[in-house]
Amino acid sequence: MPLTSSMIDALPRLEGIRLACSMHLEVKMVPTLEGLLRRGAKLFLTTCNPQTVDDRVVDWLASRGAQAQAWRGMSEEDRDVAIRKAFEWAPTHLCEMGADITAALLGGSGNPLSIQAGLEATGSGTSRLEGLKVPYPIFNWDDVPLKEGLHNRYMVGLVACHAFFERTHLTFHGKRVVIVGFGLVGRGACEAARAYGGTVAVVEKDATRAVEAQFAGWPVVSLEQGLRQADIVITATGARHVIGEKHLSLLRDGVFLVNVGHTAEEIDVPALRACPHEEVLPLVEEFRVGNRSIYLFAMGSMANLTAGHGDSVNAFDITAAVLVAGIGFLVTRAAAFSPGLHLLPREAWEPVATARAARG
Ligand SMILES: NC(=O)c1ccc[n+]([C@@H]2O[C@H](COP(=O)([O-])OP(=O)(O)OC[C@H]3O[C@@H](n4cnc5c(N)ncnc54)[C@H](O)[C@@H]3O)[C@@H](O)[C@H]2O)c1
Repeated sequence: MPLTSSMIDALPRLEGIRLACSMHLEVKMVPTLEGLLRRGAKLFLTTCNPQTVDDRVVDWLASRGAQAQAWRGMSEEDRDVAIRKAFEWAPTHLCEMGADITAALLGGSGNPLSIQAGLEATGSGTSRLEGLKVPYPIFNWDDVPLKEGLHNRYMVGLVACHAFFERTHLTFHGKRVVIVGFGLVGRGACEAARAYGGTVAVVEKDATRAVEAQFAGWPVVSLEQGLRQADIVITATGARHVIGEKHLSLLRDGVFLVNVGHTAEEIDVPALRACPHEEVLPLVEEFRVGNRSIYLFAMGSMANLTAGHGDSVNAFDITAAVLVAGIGFLVTRAAAFSPGLHLLPREAWEPVATARAARG
């Protein structure tokens, strides 16, 4: 990951920096996290999603000096403990995907005094932070064009569809695919679903986005219409229980439910689990709802990371380089900003764009 390495080399020394991270701990994070350790930072690692943890990555980073409290499939209770340990460790800075540490701190579980600044990488986390009085500057790098315009837009849907194909041995040819949510992730999912053979329709609750979907040439349908016709439903909203218990009766026999949104709660998985079910293939569960079968892919957790390998290494190099540049900004410039949520300024990440563009 040459861009990431060059951004690591451009960082100042990081002795005295205690960075608590709640993130996807998969193999492509290693160059970033190992690089930060090499520059002298202390790291505390936990996960924003127990289903995406690669235990080998955690073990490797622990062997390089990181403190880690994360393992694949850890329970919600264990994760709560890990989040508490993260702030008991007295971090100076945060690097979050989903704002769990900040939300727990501000919920009264700990003292945020040691924290100087933080980074937030997800739309879900940013929405959560908007409702909180965060006493330190925290920088949203999800909405940076170089991140959302590439990763959200091009990678998530593509890799999720690829993972679906790899795991189920099914493509979408001859299938009706309904994408719920037409943000950048949903747009990429539409194109990927069509590339994998699907006939695509969009469900979007925001009228402006719905019109954008129409202008892009996608049929827009109501959720009820979409669910009645879908062979595959892909949720990409950042909202909870978009497909709830009340929707199960609308679904066709044999439908697959796939989620690419940040949390595993876009689909009401507990409502499904109340029905008889079995795992029919790794990461494919069949639920019997009345006389119909409903298939849940990757436990309703982010399909691209839980069932696939996440972004390609070449694409993720850019995202990771933006993250590293963001950490450089946190430790050198963030003190000049007021407490609360800010968009990561262009000056922080533009060197990554310039370096990538220069490579041709
Ligand atoms: N899987 C990944 O690796 C990955 C990567 C980036 C972002 N994400 C997540 O994907 C989700 C979407 O990201 P985005 O950048 O496209 O966000 P976004 O907020 O721009 O788009 C979400 C869209 O969903 C719509 N929506 C919300 N609730 C809905 C509902 N009940 N019915 C229909 N439409 C609804 C919203 O109006 C919005 O247009 C977020 O949770 C984000 O954190 C996942």
